[in-house]
Amino acid sequence: MEVRPIQVEVDVSDGLPVFIMVGFASAQVKESQDRVRTALKNNGIALPPKRITVNFAPADIRKEGAGFDLPVAAALLTAAGVITPSALEGILVIGELSLNGDVHAVPGVLPCVIRARELSCRFCMIPKGNLREARLIRDIRVIGVGNLCEMIRYLIDPDSFIPEEETDENLPPQEESVDFMEICGQEGARRAAEIAVTGFHNLLFIGPPGAGKTMLARRIPTIMPALTFEESLELTKIYSIAGLLSEEHPLIRERPFRSPHHTSSPQSLTGGGRNPRPGEISLAHRGILFLDELPEFSRRALETLRQPMEDKIICLSRTAGTYIFPASFMLVAALNPCPCGYYPDMNRCRCTAGEVAHYLGKLSQPLLDRIDLCADIPSVSFQEMSSGAGTTSSAEIRKRVECGREIQRRRYEGTGISCNGEMSNRFIGKYCTLTEEGKRLLKTAYEKLRFSMRSYHRILRVARTIADLEACEQIGSAHVAEALSYRALDKKYWS
Ligand SMILES: Nc1ncnc2c1ncn2[C@@H]1O[C@H](COP(=O)(O)OP(=O)(O)OP(=O)(O)O)[C@@H](O)[C@H]1O
Ligand SMILES: [Mg+2]
Repeated sequence: MEVRPIQVEVDVSDGLPVFIMVGFASAQVKESQDRVRTALKNNGIALPPKRITVNFAPADIRKEGAGFDLPVAAALLTAAGVITPSALEGILVIGELSLNGDVHAVPGVLPCVIRARELSCRFCMIPKGNLREARLIRDIRVIGVGNLCEMIRYLIDPDSFIPEEETDENLPPQEESVDFMEICGQEGARRAAEIAVTGFHNLLFIGPPGAGKTMLARRIPTIMPALTFEESLELTKIYSIAGLLSEEHPLIRERPFRSPHHTSSPQSLTGGGRNPRPGEISLAHRGILFLDELPEFSRRALETLRQPMEDKIICLSRTAGTYIFPASFMLVAALNPCPCGYYPDMNRCRCTAGEVAHYLGKLSQPLLDRIDLCADIPSVSFQEMSSGAGTTSSAEIRKRVECGREIQRRRYEGTGISCNGEMSNRFIGKYCTLTEEGKRLLKTAYEKLRFSMRSYHRILRVARTIADLEACEQIGSAHVAEALSYRALDKKYWS
């Protein structure tokens, strides 16, 4: 996510004709010498038969990827006398070469261009395929090149590059194909989803098969407020590094909805590899990570979520360095309460008490503690089903959510957070003021139900969101009672 500029130096001196690369370059980067040499030759530029040394500075960072082809080629071109050294001063160059001299797109160009702007580079030279992505940054000149000849031409005379006319970037918002309107009954779950989205709280659906858990979860993105431009850019950076941007519409405009399968490995969730790439939790940044059939995930995979759920970032340490990716996601999970799915309906459930306990025991208490709202999804009654689909559409719910978000935005202005779900304990004392009745109710509940300190804070956060939905300054007993009702479930199933 953070870009460290690398300076590429080339020296040509007398001696046996060899080509040496130094400066902690990986095997992948060293391969570039053959590509560059061949591409130059195929474009009629012969390198002098001398000792050529290429250095990447600073030498303490491991260099990875194919993006170094273009800067190495540019440096060699000055050594061959094709361009003057001053043409390369204060510019950023990135791109991969093919043997015939064509320039291929590389992942991660957007963060590089942002960094180049911060460093006040004269201009950026990038592959043509990355041009639309890089153009998202307005106040720096970006030159897209398709092949080696274009690169030489624009290095000599950057002013001759005439950017193509922008096609209309303001696409009409995509018509949502799903809507909350289609769901029969499940008013409680709908309300829970509304609260969860307003305050960016984690949410758990629990209920028998075919009641609509997956259906509800897939409709949550339709009630989320739109991304701001800064959030879009932040997400686009992550997707750029992961190499997941489309060439035509590079800016990520929709909140992500990631639903990894339950066979996913811990590394695919957190991000991994020797040169780590963002995992599902980072790709779900500012959006939803949906884990369907939660107990089917491996214990290790679930436990890896614990730290990022608290810190909103994931920190991966490798020998080559420490990688930090943002991971502020909203966890939505769905599960059946037992292997057959019908517990606690004893007329239909075929599981023994031991089986139920074993199944639910796959979820650890610390993980459950991190889930603010637990919503029961009962089977839909015939009456609810025959009376047709629900009455509130996603658009209506989204309007209420946006009002609640606006209140939070004003409250947290300048504090670095934007939602109740992100509120740290320090802020809880400051912003969660209770009425006398609310305090009394919370005290009784705390003593009777004996939940953990973390649960206590979570209840307060949820109560804050419920109060915000009604535009109340103080948290009343009704808000506390509703917040408590969303924690009642884990007592029902996990005790
Ligand atoms: N409340 C509902 N309103 C309308 N249709 C529903 C409802 N619940 C379920 N359905 C229908 O049943 C199908 C299955 O629902 P869904 O996949 O959401 O169930 P589920 O609760 O996730 O079940 P499982 O526990 O087996 O995963 C849906 O595609 C939908 O057609
Ligand atoms: Mg399902």
